[in-house]
Amino acid sequence: MTDPDPYIQTWEERYALPGYLYGSAPNRFLAAQAHLLRPGMHALAVADGDGRNGVWLAEQGLRVLSVDRSPLAIEKAAALAASRGVTLETEVVDLFQWRWPVATFDVVVSIFFHLASPRREAIHARMVRTLRPGGRLILEAFTKRQLQFASGGPRDLEALYSAEELQADFADLEIERLDEAETELDEGAFHQGPAALIRLVARKPS
Ligand SMILES: C[S@@+](CC[C@H](N)C(=O)[O-])C[C@H]1O[C@@H](n2cnc3c(N)ncnc32)[C@H](O)[C@@H]1O
Repeated sequence: MTDPDPYIQTWEERYALPGYLYGSAPNRFLAAQAHLLRPGMHALAVADGDGRNGVWLAEQGLRVLSVDRSPLAIEKAAALAASRGVTLETEVVDLFQWRWPVATFDVVVSIFFHLASPRREAIHARMVRTLRPGGRLILEAFTKRQLQFASGGPRDLEALYSAEELQADFADLEIERLDEAETELDEGAFHQGPAALIRLVARKPS
């Protein structure tokens, strides 16, 4: 797969700003799924940015691989892990070029990783494949209604998600939760204010 994403420079420019783009606390929806996590589980945090979610997973005792295409973001993620005294495995990867491990992870976490079709389906299929049987995907993203808000996310309807799209992408998983909510985001400087979110928890059949 080739990746024509024009935003890489923008991400590097953003991560060059001081501080953590979405704060250093975990995404609220992810933290609310703590009951699904056990120490020792192997987790993959995709497009993990500057590491707030990967580091939180490591703090729960999971073995975490945090991947992102931005070298600056991954540097910051490693620094955050060191400052919290946890181990975080990090790798700078373009997820379109990466050799995704097969049937490896107990948990895959995808928070605000937005792609337009057909790139979305291709990456979501890789998330499914990289899960071990019985493993779970935890995903939060903006819905298409986010275009009416200014609290973050792509300004491109195609790169915002609907329940139908996620149901189709993850048809091979048992969907345990899939819901939409309009809520107030308070995640660092880049996610502030009313937002339209979609949340998914899905399990790969054993
Ligand atoms: C909105 S940020 C989300 C960061 C993180 N998940 C969080 O919630 O704090 C989207 C991230 O996707 C990363 N990204 C975009 N395209 C990518 C690709 N092809 N491979 C790996 N990472 C990518 C960007 O570098 C950026 O860090």
